[in-house]
Amino acid sequence: MPDYQEIYANHADRYEALVSHEDHEGHLSRALAEVAPGTGLRVVETGAGTGRLTRLFAPRSSRVDAFDGSAAMMAVARATFAAMPHVQCGVALHQALPVPDASADVGVEGWAFGHALSWNAAGWQADVRAWVAELERVVRPGGVLVLIETMGTGVEAPFEGGHSLEPFHAFVLDALGFSHRALRTDYAFASVDEAAQTLGFFFGERLAERVRAHQWRVVPECTGLYWRAR
Ligand SMILES: C[S@@+](CC[C@H](N)C(=O)[O-])C[C@H]1O[C@@H](n2cnc3c(N)ncnc32)[C@H](O)[C@@H]1O
Repeated sequence: MPDYQEIYANHADRYEALVSHEDHEGHLSRALAEVAPGTGLRVVETGAGTGRLTRLFAPRSSRVDAFDGSAAMMAVARATFAAMPHVQCGVALHQALPVPDASADVGVEGWAFGHALSWNAAGWQADVRAWVAELERVVRPGGVLVLIETMGTGVEAPFEGGHSLEPFHAFVLDALGFSHRALRTDYAFASVDEAAQTLGFFFGERLAERVRAHQWRVVPECTGLYWRAR
């Protein structure tokens, strides 16, 4: 598998190019509006990367504080939101978000907490528990916590054929008490070759071969949306 730390440190532009192709039908944005409804929201996001989710929340927020541990990822996000002063980007870790207690309506992370399973195989549950507690600290009572994670790339159904993030899914539901729904957030590309190259960069050569074998220009992706009231 690719070295994700290296990608987040050195290839933020390529990462942004990848995620800009996901969810071509806009399912995630509509689902987020159901679990975290309203306008004028104050949003705190951790592991924001280049701002894929930030972009979905910004139009119906009065303020978004987007944080990421990678300065390179935040530099891309900062450039994207330069003309939106209500979106502020900063470098910070999941466990220490520089915002006051109970100051947000929504605390959100996407595709970030799941890295704990490979980066800290022996202690990932404690990490995820601590990161969720930090989101809980910054969200006001009555607000909502939202987590998003993949349930499989290049598959038509959640966890089809098995997936390394199945334990994350079970932990978030059973130990942390989140509600859940599964969505399709398929990637769309101009050509099969672009699909294979762009996805292969992040998910590895096995997926690139699968994309070529299926001649996929639209690549199926299953996504888990998890939410819990504060
Ligand atoms: C797969 S990317 C997801 C980025 C973004 N949420 C998105 O939707 O594209 C994972 C991100 O988590 C960040 N990250 C990983 N561990 C982190 C930590 N402990 N604290 C803050 N950010 C972290 C990485 O730098 C990377 O930008």
